[in-house]
Amino acid sequence: MNNQNNITKNLQKRHATKAFDKQKQLSAEQIATIEATLRLSPSSVNSQPWHFLLISSEEGKERLKSGAQAPPFVGNFPKVRDSSLVVIFCAKTEVSDEYLEELIELEDQAGRFPLPEQKVEGNAGRMGYLSILRQDPSATQAWINQQIYLNLGFTMATLAQQGIDSLAVEGLDFAALDAEFDLPAQGLNAKVALAIGYGSVENFNAKLPKARWPEDRVFTKL
Ligand SMILES: Cc1cc2nc3c(=O)[nH]c(=O)nc-3n(C[C@H](O)[C@H](O)[C@H](O)COP(=O)(O)O)c2cc1C
Repeated sequence: MNNQNNITKNLQKRHATKAFDKQKQLSAEQIATIEATLRLSPSSVNSQPWHFLLISSEEGKERLKSGAQAPPFVGNFPKVRDSSLVVIFCAKTEVSDEYLEELIELEDQAGRFPLPEQKVEGNAGRMGYLSILRQDPSATQAWINQQIYLNLGFTMATLAQQGIDSLAVEGLDFAALDAEFDLPAQGLNAKVALAIGYGSVENFNAKLPKARWPEDRVFTKL
């Protein structure tokens, strides 16, 4: 099978893993790759407006119960609890001038601006874009959330290519998780979770066929 077919096959095989096998844990090497993926995800103007809670201990997972106290969230708790690693994707509550100054320095130190004027131009480009966006706080927050979801998709696709199972979970009470992990005090809000590991025999979804719109409905080729 050629490489392109393999990629498609892995994407067909990937599914929302509804039940994880507690006995099958990720290796330290796999976790290191997941951490690299989370950090290496692209984001608009390299904003990286995120932070991740990486939860693999029993105690840490028990704390997630606070986000699954009542319907419709309660049924999601066993799914995340039995996975090997739960990533809580947190969004920065704002993108401040101070943060953007830190960011341009990071890029400079990384060697992205061989000439001083490139640093000035790079900063002006980003600030020009953000100055329009930042006039509307709700638009800024929506934009930050988009970066979070981009990272989520990037990470899920990377896991799929390695044959590692995952479940994205929006169905938790993220306001309750904010309180549990004291996130607003750190300028953060929890947005979405990703449970990662290996499916168990109870994972009915592994055997179900995909239901996706046909090509002629979702593509316009010009
Ligand atoms: C952003 C996002 C949030 C989701 N939240 C939940 C959730 O809270 N609980 C759940 O059981 N499945 C959740 N899912 C799984 C979706 O229902 C599933 O991905 C979709 O039905 C497509 O099926 P497939 O992933 O098996 O191809 C979520 C998926 C995504 C992408």
